[in-house]
Amino acid sequence: MNIIYYAAGANPEVWLNAFHRYLPEATIRIWEEGDNAPADYALVWKPPAAMLRGRTDLKAIFNLGAGVDAILQLGDALPQGVPLIRVDDAGMGVQMAEYVSHAVLRHFRRFDEYDVLQADKQWRPLPPHRKEDFSVGILGLGVLGNCIIDGLRSFGFPLLGWSRSAKQIGGVQCFHGDDGLDAFLSQTKVLVLILPLTTETENLMDKAKLAKLKQGAYIVNVARGAHIVEEDLLALIRQGHIAGATLDVFREEPLPLTHPFWSEKRIHITPHISALTVREESAKQIAYKIAALQRSESVIGVVDQSKGY
Ligand code: NAP
Ligand code: GLV
Repeated sequence: MNIIYYAAGANPEVWLNAFHRYLPEATIRIWEEGDNAPADYALVWKPPAAMLRGRTDLKAIFNLGAGVDAILQLGDALPQGVPLIRVDDAGMGVQMAEYVSHAVLRHFRRFDEYDVLQADKQWRPLPPHRKEDFSVGILGLGVLGNCIIDGLRSFGFPLLGWSRSAKQIGGVQCFHGDDGLDAFLSQTKVLVLILPLTTETENLMDKAKLAKLKQGAYIVNVARGAHIVEEDLLALIRQGHIAGATLDVFREEPLPLTHPFWSEKRIHITPHISALTVREESAKQIAYKIAALQRSESVIGVVDQSKGY
């Protein structure tokens, strides 16, 4: 079995070591410009078009992350009929649950305000927020959205969720489709974004939609920066309708030094680390799926390219 590998920004040696452990029978090579030799599978993160163009002989392309927005931008260069398979949790879910729980609790327990008081040597208990007012709304109820919900459950916040198709999730008030969005937003105090980036979800949270959130709402974005119109978010924070945000993802990454988010105290910034691909678990998952495909069995995580996720 021949496998080609290319992952932008990653250390190939450590990835290849992990794949060799779980796929000892495979010959895995790092793809380089001009390599048109046959291959059965491709393991990729943000690959160049030349790597995949015309490779209809591939049995599958494995995306070394959950989001497929970057690879789908290759358009016609993606070989027709070759399944594209994303990483399914593989250790990212628990990281998302940690990150989002931390952001929600920091805001709910007023830790930012206590940091300011400490800096001023002030011993001053603040009135606690009421939990029943602190509804957490999750945009995206897929693999990672469900892990976030599981992480939040024990705290007892009212939970809401929004997805494309109708869902029933215990303890979560579920909304779906364009028609359900406004009702979802109007009842949400803390908005968590964990959607895939598609033509439908790009710029989803503009001024009009952000304004529908409850007064004093808080935003946690762990999906992609382009879901939110950044200047609209900033304007609503400055106007006081939105209390603040914890943002892990941005339209332009790294976030440019001149970006106004850097100097807005009510925005917390992390450099796209809310859920890193866990190499070992991902390599294991991919090896398991390759073995299943070799036996002509179906696997989960196949991207529906017409939907964009
Ligand atoms: P997923 O399993 O494919 O789930 C996507 C969810 O979004 C589904 O519930 C889907 O609805 C919903 N959705 C998609 N389009 C929609 C629309 N137009 N309207 C309403 N709902 C819509 O994806 P995942 O594994 O949870 O990952 C989500 C995203 O997280 C990834 O695509 C990636 O961009 C991002 N991510 C970020 C990081 C990071 O470090 N910041 C790490 C990993 C992933 P249905 O259930 O009805 O289909
Ligand atoms: C990371 O952002 C991913 O999509 O896996």
